[in-house]
Amino acid sequence: MIRARIIGCGACLPSNIVTNDDLAKTVDTSDEWIRERTGITQRHIALPGEKTSDLALGAARAALADAGIDAGELDMVIVATTTPDESFPATATVVQARLGMTRGAAFDVQAVCSGFIYGLSVADSLIRTGAARTILLIGAETMSRLLDWTDRTTCVLFGDGAGAVVLQAHAGHGDNADQGVLNTRLFSDGRLHDMLYADGGVSSTQSAGKLRMQGKEVFKHAVTNIAAAIVASAEASHIAVSDVDWFVPHQANQRILDGTARKLGIDPAKVVSTVAQHGNTSAASVPLALVTAVKDGRIKRGDLVLMEAMGGGFTWGAALVRW
Ligand code: UT7
Repeated sequence: MIRARIIGCGACLPSNIVTNDDLAKTVDTSDEWIRERTGITQRHIALPGEKTSDLALGAARAALADAGIDAGELDMVIVATTTPDESFPATATVVQARLGMTRGAAFDVQAVCSGFIYGLSVADSLIRTGAARTILLIGAETMSRLLDWTDRTTCVLFGDGAGAVVLQAHAGHGDNADQGVLNTRLFSDGRLHDMLYADGGVSSTQSAGKLRMQGKEVFKHAVTNIAAAIVASAEASHIAVSDVDWFVPHQANQRILDGTARKLGIDPAKVVSTVAQHGNTSAASVPLALVTAVKDGRIKRGDLVLMEAMGGGFTWGAALVRW
């Protein structure tokens, strides 16, 4: 059986760090409120002119170097993003060109904060069906460009960044001992649009609009949906949630991470949290957390890793990977 194995990963963050105290100079908020309600202490914000493709390219180069392969070996580039450089073409094609790739295919995936999990599911499927052997998957965002900086209920929550993985076909036995993606589970419910959306778009307002969120409502659904996605992914591979070595969640709010762990009886020490340093970076959040835990030595070859996310749409999902 063919498995999509993650052979390298890398990240890229804008050099510009904005602390809660920095924000409090221009927004009616405080370090204390943001820390207590979200766990966030700082976020990276792209400088003027710094685009999603710049961050995606940085993460891509780091992931390729980590995998020890050249861009010429890639069959596809997938970018999960809600903040593309342009309405078209896909940001993935910009990355493809800048990597010097002259063959293969490149396209974007839009599932907001769940984008990396959706992209992982697509990449896994393409590899397992033999349509591609090696795929670069990137989650990259400049969420700061989509924020209403006069709305303190949203602008303090988000940040910019990118994370990437290289997936490659690898022969497995078809059991849980295989390295690579063991399963992915995707969900959405379009009826919940009004709780989290951008109030603009090409066909409606001819502009990107700004992010709008009913935070409390999103929070209520987040713990329930994320817990359900974790259980669905564990059940699909016939394992107990307690068998998972590392949980790599979407980094929206420390209280969501804690609430989900409590609901499922997960040891908080197994939950990778980078929300304090990165804030919510949407599709970049899961790969940024993943790279952090791989590089600091927590996630090791052979570990069972469960990634999950939830975002606008709503979309949500989970992926179980043997590292
Ligand atoms: O990535 C997609 C998924 N997104 C999420 O998962 C986000 C989910 N939601 C959340 O994380 C939380 O609901 C928030 C962090 C957005 C808000 O936390 P909360 O505990 O639900 O606060 P709240 O909205 O109930 O607001 C409490 C108070 C309000 O004041 P009053 O009405 O009690 O006087 C707000 O006006 O806090 C006030 N407030 C603020 N105060 C200082 C709201 N934002 C701020 C702020 N600084 N930035």
